[in-house]
Amino acid sequence: MSKISNLEGLEVLDSRGNPTVQVTATLESGARGSARVPSGASTGMNEAVELRDNDRTRFGGKGVRKAVGHVGNELLDAVRGFDADDQQRLDEELRAADGTVNKGRIGANAILGVSLAAARAMANEKRIPLYRHLTDAETYTLPVPMVNVLNGGEHADNNVDIQEFMLVPLGFNKFSDALRAVTETFHSLQAILTKKGYSTAVGDEGGFAPRLESNEEPMQLLVGAIGQAGYKPGRHISIAIDAASSEFYEQGTYVFSQSDGSRRSSDDMSKMWASWAEAYPLISVEDAFSEEDHGGWRKATPKLGSKLQLVGDDLFVTNPAIFKQGIAEGLGNSILIKLNQIGTLTETLQCIEIARTNEYTYIISHRSGETSDTTIADLAVATGSGQIKTGSTCRGERTAKYNRLLEIEAELGDRAAYAGRNAFQRWL
Ligand code: PGA
Ligand code: ZN
Repeated sequence: MSKISNLEGLEVLDSRGNPTVQVTATLESGARGSARVPSGASTGMNEAVELRDNDRTRFGGKGVRKAVGHVGNELLDAVRGFDADDQQRLDEELRAADGTVNKGRIGANAILGVSLAAARAMANEKRIPLYRHLTDAETYTLPVPMVNVLNGGEHADNNVDIQEFMLVPLGFNKFSDALRAVTETFHSLQAILTKKGYSTAVGDEGGFAPRLESNEEPMQLLVGAIGQAGYKPGRHISIAIDAASSEFYEQGTYVFSQSDGSRRSSDDMSKMWASWAEAYPLISVEDAFSEEDHGGWRKATPKLGSKLQLVGDDLFVTNPAIFKQGIAEGLGNSILIKLNQIGTLTETLQCIEIARTNEYTYIISHRSGETSDTTIADLAVATGSGQIKTGSTCRGERTAKYNRLLEIEAELGDRAAYAGRNAFQRWL
């Protein structure tokens, strides 16, 4: 038994300069492990609650001293002496200590910090990498990165309503080659933007965030950048979108308020995605419809689902019960997995299991507010997700995850495969 002997919480900063929770777990053996919790901006309505102090005299109310306090008090009391190798029981105990459905009393940020720090401490005790602690296998598959190079919506101060335009380097045999190709494309994009007189300042996830002519212009810019970097659009690098459309859904209508002010119905949105899938090497659209527009999702999934990976982020919020309900309703064909939307490693793994059973793809994801924590890189490898979403190839908190994947690929040598086109087979 590897018993938990201590938990320490600390208020640290995330990539937006907002406070977040760091937890260090210590086991009786002396092994330690730390985790830092991320934070979203375009959050789903049904996400687990991130506990903030709401004390206006500190960080504009965004302090996390209460959550940090719970780590070293209530949560430590609840799990002291528990076996860190029994993640499921540990997470059940953490949930029970909170006692609410949305983890709002103790805070999902405090709970997730403990859940992940315990896993890390256990991996350290066994002297194995985290991915191996999560899944012990002979061979592993490295995920295709979905690299967010153009930002709009809640993640940028520009006139683009759609939140993310991503490069998907699926036509390579190695993760490191794929990462090089998208990084080169990111730099060609920068050169193209500069030539056009556009800003090359970056948004929260490291993508460029210029003022553009339309919501569609990023598609043309990405195709141009892929070509200019010496790659073939669709063959080497495809495109994915995160519309984050819950953010611009108002009383049954999609309102493009940041760009041209136009208003669209679900059917209009569906037609737009279909026409973009025809005109561009678009392979995946996340939150193509609002979390409230189940009708739109239900109607569009059979129409668009054979051409496009339709990813539910705000729609499913990594919540096993909500996800199951969504599957029963026929919504989408893929789920975005964000640990802090649900708040424990165990429930996250449950969602992944539900996805596998129901033939939904699953994408391990960062949040727009991040830290140098690299847990999601190991999680993507351990679960064979085939896809990871962790921002652009700049900004340290994003490249930390890519660099961790490079490290894993190098360490595994011949025992590492690259998911490549296999991850998207249904849509190719
Ligand atoms: P968020 O954005 O972390 O701000 O929610 C990421 C996403 O929507 O996928
Ligand atoms: Zn999203």
